[in-house]
Amino acid sequence: MLSKDFTQSLVILIVATVLVASFSIVVLIVPNLVRTDEIRLRSMAIPLTAVQVAGRDVYISEGCHVCHTQMVRNIDPEVKRDGRANKEADDIYEYPNLWGSKRTGPDLTNLGRKYSDQWQRIHLMNPRQVVPTSLMPAYPWLFEQVLSGDDIEDKMRALQTLGVPYTDNEIDKARLAVKGMTKGEALVQYLQSLGQDTAGDQER
Ligand code: HEC
Repeated sequence: MLSKDFTQSLVILIVATVLVASFSIVVLIVPNLVRTDEIRLRSMAIPLTAVQVAGRDVYISEGCHVCHTQMVRNIDPEVKRDGRANKEADDIYEYPNLWGSKRTGPDLTNLGRKYSDQWQRIHLMNPRQVVPTSLMPAYPWLFEQVLSGDDIEDKMRALQTLGVPYTDNEIDKARLAVKGMTKGEALVQYLQSLGQDTAGDQER
């Protein structure tokens, strides 16, 4: 009787969907919003530097997140393949998060320091030079295009407004740090930071 109503009444379907969605939001999302300050205090997570913020923007603009996730679920096969599972603190300063949804390439949550800076540069310029069977596109222009740093202060101020604890001094120095750097170099610095700060956090 009930299943008949579910399949035949649009109203019941909509009400049931809203109920299930609201329940998930209340149980899974609201507690973490309320606990943000506590998670920050208890974690070793540190905000990205100005150069890493610029590198992260290159990561987004080149669509790296379309092929790579930054989300290791706490299940055995994933942890064995990709390293430790994501923790709340990993994304505490991430706006927007880059969890991704498609895994054409490996998960990058724990990538930092897995390879040398030079390996990362060569791999980005031509992945097949270090991984002969790689399907990943090459990004040689990243090491030719230079960042002006013109928008980095605004970006960091926007992040500050969202709660990332940058000091005004850090923001004032951001432009100089980024200016003149190639996109590729900033991207490598971002990649090398992945998973590093929170690696030592205790599971609680
Ligand atoms: C079309 C899909 C695709 C896109 C887009 C892509 N990658 Fe990849 N990536 C792969 C594949 C497949 C591999 C595995 C083969 C290899 O190591 O090259 C890989 C491997 C990697 C690795 C090595 C990971 C490891 O643990 O060995 C890094 C780092 C990486 N990609 C970074 C990037 C960055 C940064 C970008 C954006 C500039 C990017 N990828 C864009 C498909 C992609």
